[in-house]
Amino acid sequence: MDNVTKAKEYALAHESEKRFSHTAGVAGDCGRLAEIFGLDEGLSESLVIAGWLHDTTKELSPSQQKELCIRYGVPEPEDGYGSPTLHAITAAYLTRTLFPDLVNETVFSAIRYHTTGKAGMSLSDMIVCFADYTEASRKYETCRRLRRRFYDNVTPQNRERLLCECLCEAFEATISSLTSRGDYIDPDTFDAKDSLLRLLENQEVRI
Ligand SMILES: [Fe+2]
Ligand SMILES: [Fe+2]
Repeated sequence: MDNVTKAKEYALAHESEKRFSHTAGVAGDCGRLAEIFGLDEGLSESLVIAGWLHDTTKELSPSQQKELCIRYGVPEPEDGYGSPTLHAITAAYLTRTLFPDLVNETVFSAIRYHTTGKAGMSLSDMIVCFADYTEASRKYETCRRLRRRFYDNVTPQNRERLLCECLCEAFEATISSLTSRGDYIDPDTFDAKDSLLRLLENQEVRI
């Protein structure tokens, strides 16, 4: 079985039908974005694998999340083991242990930060994060608008800047919706937004 099929089969076995259809959309968009950014075959494969594996612990209970955190030495999150962003951390550690040949540093980091982002994201981190945020089945208006804005306007000349602009807007929308609900906001999300804003201040965006 090839690497991408291995990752896909694992997702299929560990996700509900609805989640799997989101995951398939993300993996497909990771491949499409890798092509838009002219990435080589190896990196493109890594991003598709990250797409397939990114949500594989999303449906675990808080007590199962806790068990994984203890196993991998992950401290309890500020917002507890029911944290909506914890699956990104547990999925990264669990899949790296299960598939050391598939989950290299690029894949690990892209899965680890696909929800919160972080300061100084790599292009691979950004691609998986953006693919997840704008996956076609998402109903939230900002997700749909950013999907259209990126894919309708991207060119080889503007692709880096456009991705940074769209992702920055995605983090701003996340921060404002969590704030209005009074929910916990991971400090990495503030750092991700600030880091992108700083990058966008430069004439030429280099990721
Ligand atoms: Fe996720
Ligand atoms: Fe996802």
